[in-house]
Amino acid sequence: MTGEQLDVGVGPWPGDPPEDPRYDPELLAAGDRRNVVDRYRYWRREAVVADLDRRRHDFHVAIENWQHDLNIGTVVRNANAFLAAEVHIVGRRRWNRRGAMVTDRYQHVRHHETIDQLIAWAAEHDLPLVGIDNLPGCRPLETSTLPRRCVLLFGQEGPGLSEAARSACDQVFSIAQYGSTRSINAGVASGIAMHAWIRAHAGPPPT
Ligand SMILES: C[S@@+](CC[C@H](N)C(=O)[O-])C[C@H]1O[C@@H](n2cnc3c(N)ncnc32)[C@H](O)[C@@H]1O
Repeated sequence: MTGEQLDVGVGPWPGDPPEDPRYDPELLAAGDRRNVVDRYRYWRREAVVADLDRRRHDFHVAIENWQHDLNIGTVVRNANAFLAAEVHIVGRRRWNRRGAMVTDRYQHVRHHETIDQLIAWAAEHDLPLVGIDNLPGCRPLETSTLPRRCVLLFGQEGPGLSEAARSACDQVFSIAQYGSTRSINAGVASGIAMHAWIRAHAGPPPT
């Protein structure tokens, strides 16, 4: 580990440790080098999740995972950053956690074996499925407002949204592109779409 990496976070708590039950005695004693915002320094993981749960946003995120899509870690990390209610993985249960950079510890992740299971879950919770893909007939995200309560559904590298996923969506939104590539990757697309939701519906982030 380089000196620069060692400087991330905080060292042991100076002086007498605080009594607050949100604090983790091991982190207080050894220091907290985790990738968390400063207000969560020394907090137990469960305390961080409970605090996030009190103010999660109304949007969910779902991604199809039929071929072990490497973008899922980035989708989970973005969902944590923009505070999605939950991430839904549709298809294979296993996904590559590397890109998540441990954010999956603070994010609710639910698995659905099939698109039909996701459709049933969304109907039960009265949440429309909103596709994000560059398909014929889709609406431009730049001049549209995403619904406040929704599941943003992303396709995977290569095929994009499956036929079953497309037909389950109430609406599909595209992200404008200007170059020669057909598409951006789903991880990047998820960050742009989640930020579009934030711009429309979220207040300022906590300080
Ligand atoms: C690599 S893309 C593949 C699919 C794409 N339909 C194509 O024509 O090549 C994988 C996923 O990223 C998201 N995505 C990529 N580019 C996008 C764009 N310009 N607009 C909206 N979503 C996009 C979509 O969720 C898509 O299913």
